[in-house]
Amino acid sequence: MKFTSLFRQKPISQLVPEEEIHDGGGLRRALGVRDLTFLGIAAVIGAGIFSTIGNAAYNGGPGVIFLFLITAVACGFTALCYAEFASRVPVSGSAYTYSYVTFGEMIAWIIGWALILEYAIGNIVVAISWSSYFNNILENIGINLPAWLSTGFQPAKIAYERAVASGDPTEGMAYLTAPAIGGAKFIVNLPAFLVVVLVTWLALIGIKESRNSANAMVWLKIIILVFVAVVGLGYIFSNHTTGNWSPFLPNGMTGVLRGVSAVFFAYIGFDAISTTAEECKNPQRDLPRAMIYSLVICTVIYVVTTLVITGMVNYKEFEGVTDPIAFVFEKLNMSGIGFVVSISAVVAATSVLLVFQLGQPRIWMIMSRDGLLPKKFASIHPKYKTPGFATIVTGLLVGIPVLFIDDVLMTDLTSIGTLFAFFLVSGGVLLLPKVEKEPGKFNLPYINGKWIVPVLVAVFIYGFWGRLTAAFANIGHEGYQELLFILFVVLALTMAVLTFLRNYSLIPILGVLSTAYLMIEIPAKSWMVFFGWMGVGLLIYFLYSYRNSHLAVAGRR
Ligand code: ALA
Repeated sequence: MKFTSLFRQKPISQLVPEEEIHDGGGLRRALGVRDLTFLGIAAVIGAGIFSTIGNAAYNGGPGVIFLFLITAVACGFTALCYAEFASRVPVSGSAYTYSYVTFGEMIAWIIGWALILEYAIGNIVVAISWSSYFNNILENIGINLPAWLSTGFQPAKIAYERAVASGDPTEGMAYLTAPAIGGAKFIVNLPAFLVVVLVTWLALIGIKESRNSANAMVWLKIIILVFVAVVGLGYIFSNHTTGNWSPFLPNGMTGVLRGVSAVFFAYIGFDAISTTAEECKNPQRDLPRAMIYSLVICTVIYVVTTLVITGMVNYKEFEGVTDPIAFVFEKLNMSGIGFVVSISAVVAATSVLLVFQLGQPRIWMIMSRDGLLPKKFASIHPKYKTPGFATIVTGLLVGIPVLFIDDVLMTDLTSIGTLFAFFLVSGGVLLLPKVEKEPGKFNLPYINGKWIVPVLVAVFIYGFWGRLTAAFANIGHEGYQELLFILFVVLALTMAVLTFLRNYSLIPILGVLSTAYLMIEIPAKSWMVFFGWMGVGLLIYFLYSYRNSHLAVAGRR
């Protein structure tokens, strides 16, 4: 094996002709900036704000809004880098395709493998959130599924252990009441499984209009969240519960930062619109705008929603709450509103599930066309004209785990995997050759980072000096968390020196550094699983993809 062959690049001119990528007509060049913004919101607002934010608010208090703002800025840098690629690489891009033409094959494979975390593993979290709200609706209309059919084995066990520790085992009902089969408790999240089956079926039969029809679901989400904001703020001010906002940062920034993966998770999805480059009327102009618009709209919604829920009830109430928005209304005896919220949460989660359940098989399809995955992954269903095999594999990959597992680790994995893809896309922009500006096309504004980046890094190190020295003193403690921080500082210093020497463009550098920073705030124990996942990916690359890659086959001819 030649070392250089690991970095063989796919020439832009050799990308798959665009008509092969889609399963046929209808949408070509149909999307304008408004549709794309809606599509972005369709993919973004879902489990994050409706579910995982509960824990983040418990740890960080109302001050979690700062994390929403920081994360939005980090995503903004990445969005601009995605936009630059979308305008340079003339196919329905994904981070996978972008890295194939810049970093070469091995990194492209790694990205493709990491994107499974974003799309398929991300959907596990969304399906579990869907189920939590769906059960809420059922209970409201008087249907009570047995507890052991509406949660997975792992979360039920965790809840039981927590309940025993707190002296009230009845809180662990699912575990206590579950039937035993051969000595093992039978506890499965049936609604989560069924929704995955349903969405997989929709993705399989090829709802071509799904990308456009997301509009209706988006309106519903926005209207309900605006309604929540109005009713919530009305409640806060008429009942004088603003005291819940103080202290604003009950556990300082450390508590806020515990929510990194939950908050970042809430933003995942805006990048999915870059996969529609070939269906945009004017991708070079509209894609960047739509990504930024959807980020701004979602940020406003998230910040207001967080303020509302933490203003209505005290942040301490959110421990272990997986349906926080409905929870606050039910807690304050406004169950009717809680019911409406649950319905919109189910709709929101369904639209996210659909976008991702459509995206994953298409990424595999492109990887398979490059020879990196078996041919079967690119096979098109004869009747439905969708990547049938890949769609069903996605369904199994998402559907089976949702029956059993807890979503906390899955949220972390999704966030690390996606941040990793963002990190490489931002870095990839630095490797693109310089081109002349073309009017009407998006061009990432070049701001020379020569002085700004070293100054920013110096200010960061100065501000975090205490943490850095403590990190050196504590290496090996706290599950190696602080080792990650030291690695980040090394990366930041390296980027500062390189930028000084090579006059790197500011925006991609900020994209690289901000995504790296968010990554190192995710618990180190989740990183171990991430490394394990990537290790398996590399093994498959060397055993299969490296040899079967079309670039390798062409080279042997
Ligand atoms: N951002 C998406 C959600 O929160 C993944 O559901």
